[in-house]
Amino acid sequence: MIKKAVQTMGQQFGRRSWAEPWKIKMVEPIRVPSRGQRKKALIDAGYNTFLLPSEDVYIDLLTDSGTSAMSDRQWAGIMMGDEAYAGSRNFYHLEEAVQKYYGYRYVVPTHQGRGAEHMISQICITQGQLVPGNMYFTTTRLHQEMAGGTFVDVIIKAAHDPTDLHPFKGDVDLVKLEELIKKEGADKIAYVSLAGTVNMAGGQPVSMGNVKALRVLCDKYGVKVYLDATRMAENAYFIQQQEEGYADKSIAEILKEFCSYTDAAWMSAKKDNLVNIGGWLAVNDRDLFDALRNMVVVYEGLHTYGGMAGRDMEALAIGISESVQDDHIRARVAQVQYLGNLLIEWGVPIMRPPGGHAIFLDAKAFYSHLSQDVFPAQILAAELYLDSGVRSMERGIVSAGRDPATGDHRRPALELTRLAIPRRVYTQAHMDVVAEAIKTVYDVRDQAKGLKMVYEPKVLRFFQARFEPIA
Ligand SMILES: Cc1ncc(COP(=O)(O)O)c(C=O)c1O
Repeated sequence: MIKKAVQTMGQQFGRRSWAEPWKIKMVEPIRVPSRGQRKKALIDAGYNTFLLPSEDVYIDLLTDSGTSAMSDRQWAGIMMGDEAYAGSRNFYHLEEAVQKYYGYRYVVPTHQGRGAEHMISQICITQGQLVPGNMYFTTTRLHQEMAGGTFVDVIIKAAHDPTDLHPFKGDVDLVKLEELIKKEGADKIAYVSLAGTVNMAGGQPVSMGNVKALRVLCDKYGVKVYLDATRMAENAYFIQQQEEGYADKSIAEILKEFCSYTDAAWMSAKKDNLVNIGGWLAVNDRDLFDALRNMVVVYEGLHTYGGMAGRDMEALAIGISESVQDDHIRARVAQVQYLGNLLIEWGVPIMRPPGGHAIFLDAKAFYSHLSQDVFPAQILAAELYLDSGVRSMERGIVSAGRDPATGDHRRPALELTRLAIPRRVYTQAHMDVVAEAIKTVYDVRDQAKGLKMVYEPKVLRFFQARFEPIA
């Protein structure tokens, strides 16, 4: 019997309900492995969810990267691949889409985001330079370090506090940035590495007011602003919803305006752009473009494919135009918020407010009896998988890695377990299952003992590290 108190999603938010702007044409069956199978899989994977075979996963929220569902238009585009080595027509479609929606002049394709990060870091950073940015991202920082740079965190303080409800926790602390420029001298700054939204801070957005002010500040000192545009369309949604003067602007308009305050962008197209593989770099400066074009042929492929097949570039060009549709972004972010709001309602500690692409459990508060040395976010991801077959990932001390100078663990203020929601893949019912699984693990939180690391790769250790439970 349905109880009176049961409410639709719209009613919960005090508005009329609306639904995803698509219907499902093809499905991929998934199964729930038994508890015994999950236990074995977890041991075999060294308690690292990255090492689980996907066959052993029920609801896969490891990442939103390359896991989105493509539309029928994108699949049709795949059949229109022009697999010419040079000058594929699909490249020109991609170039046109980036120019139209992001507004930069020149486009270089890459196989995925880190291919772009590698090139821009190698070209724009010289040994000993600093790269200030609004919180680090794993691969981005590593490429900056490998080019001889040192990342300096200049995100606002609120970003490091899971309970702070600041609507734009991705904002750059402009005072901190200016102090750094004045202290070190503008020549020592390679560029400002700006990301919208900020993955490691919980998918938190940057405001238009902040990027505008950042532009003014950087112009004053002759410093460039380079944007990690991986989730910039989602960032635009938060500006539309929360920033004065943008309620009547479309996502596409906001995205283009935001990019106009930056000098260049790199992209992991596997996120916002709705493809399973791909990336690009886009710049306004002709000399930088020439340098990137010279480098792309060494590491990725010719400058008109950059590691992608022609069909991938076609799917990407179409994905870009779909990714800036207001209905799509609204449904996408609202699904994340739906899951987040259920957990908040039930008292489960999460990074607040919910961000654009994922819900991040605050593992420090979740397992308040565990020290960071026993990897609370890692064990939380393992426990969640064991309970339900839901796959998440660690975003805490393991992901932060070691300081290259001292060799010590970096100890981030945020110790989070990330549940990233692929775009257009799961339904609200899947979110209910996930929420209940988290609640079940939360109810027995006192029993968790933590993990010890028994194998540690030298770089990006979170991908392949292995752990054993503490008895
Ligand atoms: C913010 C951000 N930048 C860059 C990357 C790297 O992109 P890719 O995984 O396509 O190499 C990612 C991937 O997760 C990301 O989230």
